[in-house]
Amino acid sequence: MELNNKQREVWNSFIDEQPKILICSGAKRAGKTFVLLLTFLAHVSKYLDMGLNFIIGGANLGTIRRNVLTDLEQILGKELKLNKSSAIEIFGNQVYCFDGANANSWKKARGFTSAGAFLNEATALHDSFVKEVISRCSYKGAMVMMDTNPENPMHTVKTDYIDKDGQTLKSGRLNIRSFHFSLFDNNFLDPEYVESIVASTPSGMFTDRDIHGYWVAPEGVIYKDFNKDIHYISSEQLKEKQGRFTKYFAGVDWGYEHPGSIVVIGQDDQGCFYLLEEHAKQHEEIDYWVKVAKDIKERYGNINFYCDTARPEHIQRFRREKLRAQNADKAVVSGIEKVAQLFKQDQLFVVKDKVDRFKKEIFMYVWNQKTGEPVKEWDDVLDSVRYAIYTNGKPSGVRALTR
Ligand SMILES: Nc1ncnc2c1ncn2[C@@H]1O[C@H](COP(=O)(O)OP(=O)(O)OP(=O)(O)O)[C@@H](O)[C@H]1O
Ligand SMILES: [Mg+2]
Repeated sequence: MELNNKQREVWNSFIDEQPKILICSGAKRAGKTFVLLLTFLAHVSKYLDMGLNFIIGGANLGTIRRNVLTDLEQILGKELKLNKSSAIEIFGNQVYCFDGANANSWKKARGFTSAGAFLNEATALHDSFVKEVISRCSYKGAMVMMDTNPENPMHTVKTDYIDKDGQTLKSGRLNIRSFHFSLFDNNFLDPEYVESIVASTPSGMFTDRDIHGYWVAPEGVIYKDFNKDIHYISSEQLKEKQGRFTKYFAGVDWGYEHPGSIVVIGQDDQGCFYLLEEHAKQHEEIDYWVKVAKDIKERYGNINFYCDTARPEHIQRFRREKLRAQNADKAVVSGIEKVAQLFKQDQLFVVKDKVDRFKKEIFMYVWNQKTGEPVKEWDDVLDSVRYAIYTNGKPSGVRALTR
């Protein structure tokens, strides 16, 4: 099997250094999982037909199937079916698949003696699970392999393992070896694909982490690719698009002390989005927002309103008023990434004379470097835009689950 240069370094470390913990962290699609699956299989094969236990850990069984088992099947050339204990047999050993995202996930691994583990997307796993799995790998020669995308530099995967690269055990055996991957390390990817990923990844944190693989804290303005000279259009310019809109939908962020906000978004036949109007107001009760939404419905038809789920009673009220209120998907960073991608690719425009608060928020909405989350100020209109765009972009089946 052919490996790229970075993968070969990992493989050589596995063969020559035999670290107890082998880590690949870095960019998306860089080849981290692939090489660690090879080393994991090679490791399991060392214990051929010994009936030992191994662990594969992932956020949940769905992600294990998608990120790990599918590639394993390809490498092994056979179908892998989990048995009743969520285990598969590989080379005469039992490989248990554990979901590790929750605070009590570690209990699954309790009492286990394992000869090795593969932890996929380590930052998506609970710290106590990662630590329990490592301590369960007590069989002689056991190894733990982890891959992950970068996150905040304070994350325990970085501080407890990656930063300790080169640490040795008393016996002299290497304890931790960590490798850093950038997207450009994976020369198996089609250059056009790489080019398109680079072009569509938002500037700042997203590019630093997803393309270069750096563990950076986000900083500064969130929508760095918003360019007022490109992304504002006038109502006049919008008229030229008349008849080309294929869909309208709305986003709703409830608020009282902070302004509440409803925005209307239109999508054209080119897949571009337009923020068509903004309604942002402080100190208004639900009756006011029902009136705004009904007026929108009259002008745009019976469109979806993707609503902040913090106030279910308001969503119920909308539904009683025959408004199509849907629960918004509020995943913050993923939602921001989606909106930021559209700005980066010049696929989201704002009708300048139909917004007011947006104009301030777009330059005032900033990251909190400590938490890695946005500062909860100057986010009201931008939250409703995010709810609308992100939830609309999800497949309807997935959306139904969040309803
Ligand atoms: N040496 C290789 N030979 C053939 N295909 C490879 C090789 N390395 C990686 N690939 C393929 O490249 C793609 C990306 O690799 P992989 O899934 O390992 O990346 P990753 O770094 O784990 O990405 P993510 O962070 O998105 O999980 C996969 O489709 C994988 O099968
Ligand atoms: Mg991966």
